[in-house]
Amino acid sequence: MSAVDLDTGPAENPLVVGLERQPVRSTAMVIFGAHGDLASRKLLPGIYNLAHEGALPERVALIGVSRGQLSDEDFRSNAREAIERFSRRRPDADVLSGLLANFSYVRGTFDDPALYAQLAEALGALDAGVGAPLNRIFYLSTAPEFFPTIARKLGESGLSAAEGAEVRVVIEKPIGYDLASARAQNEAVLEHFAESQVFRIDHYLGKETVQNLMALRFSNALFEPVWNRNYIDNVQITAAEDIGIGSRAGYYDGAGALRDLVQNHMLQLLALLAMEPPTAFEANRLRDEKVKVLEAIAPPALHEVAEMAVRAQYAPGVVSGAEAAGYREEPGVPADSRTETYAALRLQINNWRWAGVPFYLRTGKRMARKLTEIAVTLRPVPHIAFQGPDSDGVRPNQVILTLQPDEAVSVSLGAKVPGTKMQIRPVNMEFHYGTSFLSESPEAYERLILDVMRGDATLFTRGDEVEALWRIIDPVLAAWAADDQTPIPQYPAGSAGPAEAAALLGDRSWRRL
Ligand code: BG6
Repeated sequence: MSAVDLDTGPAENPLVVGLERQPVRSTAMVIFGAHGDLASRKLLPGIYNLAHEGALPERVALIGVSRGQLSDEDFRSNAREAIERFSRRRPDADVLSGLLANFSYVRGTFDDPALYAQLAEALGALDAGVGAPLNRIFYLSTAPEFFPTIARKLGESGLSAAEGAEVRVVIEKPIGYDLASARAQNEAVLEHFAESQVFRIDHYLGKETVQNLMALRFSNALFEPVWNRNYIDNVQITAAEDIGIGSRAGYYDGAGALRDLVQNHMLQLLALLAMEPPTAFEANRLRDEKVKVLEAIAPPALHEVAEMAVRAQYAPGVVSGAEAAGYREEPGVPADSRTETYAALRLQINNWRWAGVPFYLRTGKRMARKLTEIAVTLRPVPHIAFQGPDSDGVRPNQVILTLQPDEAVSVSLGAKVPGTKMQIRPVNMEFHYGTSFLSESPEAYERLILDVMRGDATLFTRGDEVEALWRIIDPVLAAWAADDQTPIPQYPAGSAGPAEAAALLGDRSWRRL
């Protein structure tokens, strides 16, 4: 039998070969902004759940970095509190204590060279303790203005590479504010890291149903033959939220719905839905296909924006039975803010597969309910042989992928109503994750953190892809910024959005929320 590598297990253990769970190399993870909301709500609970499932490498060390005066013990106890509060499953006392024992804390400001010297020392000590270099992950869970500084300091202090180990850097959104700033940010990071070391997170790509979109398209013979302009009439992508902006006015008022959700999450959904089949589910093959389809979306000319984009803000209303303030009354939002909390777009993909098929996107805060779905509507059948009122129920087929709140796929079909007449009515063929797999889906961050540890960038956004995404919405942002006079349409909180959005669809209509 071959030698056992303690890090990866027996090289050719027949019980391990073929298992989906690939061994992951021992890793030290440094979280910049370890005190922030994202770390508390998503990253630390995500890491705990990976530990709970035994999915983490044999050795994992986590170093939290922020400006607060904390001891290791304080950091561990804060982390424990966050995990107990936000973990999707109740933590097991032993697993949690075992995990926290490997947490430590380094205090510092992100531009201070002393911080990086301390980090180098702490990471070196971890390597020495294990007797081998650990892979290193630097997770930038900070405000985006710090990304270039941290990347530069890591580079200058020699931490962007490590002898005998992989070094990776994880960047959270927003990646830039527009095309030019995204480019500048990419350049700043790529000055010190190779693209293959950079993992740009879009948490939607970690969602089970988003990955299922690819499974559905590329592991079934049923859909792909009709997935084109010959059979598809239109596609609607909805990301409606019932929540408002909470305490995020500082960020949100400078961003708006287009930057917050469309530029990243929604266009990613569109790209996965519309891309050509990649030859392999390998990071660059998949991302090449996404970039190609994104580049086939012609950015609108400034004068075309009014025809293809609608923005709006929520006004006071009622959400889930409770009164909700309007956007301009939210704490921290200027009373004359023109930031959109709703955005709807009509896009065209100018390629052989999709020419002429409209893609409608809409997203908004404080809408009637949380619903994220992709609805693909096929063309009507060419001839209906059933006569008169019996044919009234014949409707175009729809394939609906629901991402949230329930994870489901449904296909609508015309079926005969039982009885002596040939009467047709649409019925749904449905598949629900909860009932088909009887298991709770992992949180997006769990999958993504594990992928970074594995070095698999398939579900992360490549630098050129970020730029392709911005290229599509840059003119919309520019046209909206240039118009500081036209009143911003309002929609009552708790509604389906502004009446103005109907105009984008012509004879068609938005799906009911
Ligand atoms: C984030 C946005 O990226 O996605 C938030 O900044 C938004 O404004 C969130 O609420 C939605 O994510 P999810 O997973 O709840 O659909």
